[in-house]
Amino acid sequence: MQKLIIKGKKFLSGSINISGSKNATLPILAATILSDKPLTLKNVPLVQDVYTMINLLKFIGLSVKISKKNKTLNISNNKKLKTIAPYNLLKTMRAGVLVLGPLLAKYKKAKVSLPGGCAIGARPVNLHLFALEKLGAKIKISNGYIYASAKNGLKGAIIKFPSISVGATENAILAAVSAKGQTIISNCAIEPEIQDMIFFLKKLGCNINFIGKRKILIIGISDFKKANHEIIFDRIELGTYLIAGALVGKKIILNKVNPKIIKTEIKIMKKMGVRMKVEKNKIIVFESKKLNSISIKTGAYPGFPTDLQAQIMVLMSKASGISKVKESIFENRFMHVPELKRMGAKISTKNNVAIITGSTSFSGAEVMATDLRASVSLVLAALIADNRTTINRIYHLDRGYENLEKKLKKCKANINRI
Ligand code: UD1
Repeated sequence: MQKLIIKGKKFLSGSINISGSKNATLPILAATILSDKPLTLKNVPLVQDVYTMINLLKFIGLSVKISKKNKTLNISNNKKLKTIAPYNLLKTMRAGVLVLGPLLAKYKKAKVSLPGGCAIGARPVNLHLFALEKLGAKIKISNGYIYASAKNGLKGAIIKFPSISVGATENAILAAVSAKGQTIISNCAIEPEIQDMIFFLKKLGCNINFIGKRKILIIGISDFKKANHEIIFDRIELGTYLIAGALVGKKIILNKVNPKIIKTEIKIMKKMGVRMKVEKNKIIVFESKKLNSISIKTGAYPGFPTDLQAQIMVLMSKASGISKVKESIFENRFMHVPELKRMGAKISTKNNVAIITGSTSFSGAEVMATDLRASVSLVLAALIADNRTTINRIYHLDRGYENLEKKLKKCKANINRI
């Protein structure tokens, strides 16, 4: 099994190109099922979760050609697809369930495995199924599979989500774009990745518009066009490197981004005292010695992203005073805390609240990654730690961070994979 070895306390300088967003790529890949015309996706992050989704699409019957050099996918789909998504392709990545909406819309039936368990919380799919049932699907769950059917095709409906879910909003949209008539989805998630998927769907010819802050109107269509789309930048990767820069950056330039999309994160980091220069398509960040403590709560966009919660705790550990994090999206997302504590962090947790006492010094240790964002928080802690840190189980990291060591090495970090 691969490990990362990091020798900390080294100042970093240089520039990093932020990759395309994994969480935008996954639903957009699911959306490609809808069209029979050639599709091109650019700026695709070639991370493990994206490969898993590509394998799922290939299993279903799509042709996906990967150009690693250009980070481009060429997708074509001119035969009848299978309407099955098997367990072995969903057990490691929940987003596989996003093929349910488009398969059901196109073929009036689908059999999709219930996604595998997840360390950060129960993560059920009841809201996905709630939306599809509103559109007229009959759903049965047996032997670990979701069996969905709509004999006469899906019909437009009014879907009001009882709570906000990114994946359920995506599945609902992906099914409704070809349902007969009009659908109104309210209390939906409005993450930039969903907006990017909507942008892509519009290129396919879909009739889809926001009619309120969390309200979308869709009029179903039956003919999808060819399209060429460049995936939006990864705002979580940007946030992660901003924190790295604040911790150990002599001067780090983060390119290929749109800072307007991460206003909340910038506001919070500036309040903490992070020194940064925000430009139109880049952010320059510098080591920030005097950091202030802060209280934050994670929330649906435009709230502070839960996917950046583990990373900001490392920054909070360097701020003087007591910081507080309330995790309001997932019930079990503090698994990085025991590992960070082994490296010297002073963090206590009660239910969904973590109290971080700073400023503390980190010392290198052998630690274990438990999920994608938890693993990168250990990388951040290792960058400021004395001595050497060994991070085990880095396959979690490879699910979502493209070329992490390469990008950090380019900024002169002492990081190696063995
Ligand atoms: C997506 C992101 C993930 C991010 C999360 C929250 C992708 C591929 N993943 O995950 O990185 O951390 O949004 O921003 O984009 N829920 C239900 N029933 C459902 C669906 C969700 O109760 O049917 C609950 C979940 O357990 C969770 C909350 O709703 O507590 C939000 O989850 P959701 O927004 O659906 O997250 P994902 O789409 O799985």
